[in-house]
Amino acid sequence: MIQGINHIAIVVPNMEDARCFYESQLGFQLGESEILRERGLEIVFVPIGDTRLELIAPIRDDSEISTYLKKRGGGIHHIAFDVDNIDQAHESLVQSEVRLTSKEPQSGAHNTRVSFIHPKSSGGVLMELVEEKGESHVTKN
Ligand code: CO
Repeated sequence: MIQGINHIAIVVPNMEDARCFYESQLGFQLGESEILRERGLEIVFVPIGDTRLELIAPIRDDSEISTYLKKRGGGIHHIAFDVDNIDQAHESLVQSEVRLTSKEPQSGAHNTRVSFIHPKSSGGVLMELVEEKGESHVTKN
């Protein structure tokens, strides 16, 4: 069901500061910024080897990650796994009584469909399952 690590997501309080750190100081090349308006988020992917970091910053005070930021001031937020069929994966987890954060898969960044496994079911780690539409981020040789 799970085929690889799609990304590791890191919540940052401020995307400009994060750009400075990841780009100028760590030497990463950041991708383009994407705004997910309904969820109140700005997302920037950072390619690293076969996977990516996903930097997530709030664009308003009541964003999806604002509570997390207030409590923890940023940090590793979730790990995302590749699945080839999100509907099947979602259903199979429901059947196995794994707690998910939504009844159905939702839309994620870059035109993906995603489901999240609740940390209560996974020993404290928020896990995202991602089905990529079309081109995968992984370059296959
Ligand atoms: Co993610």
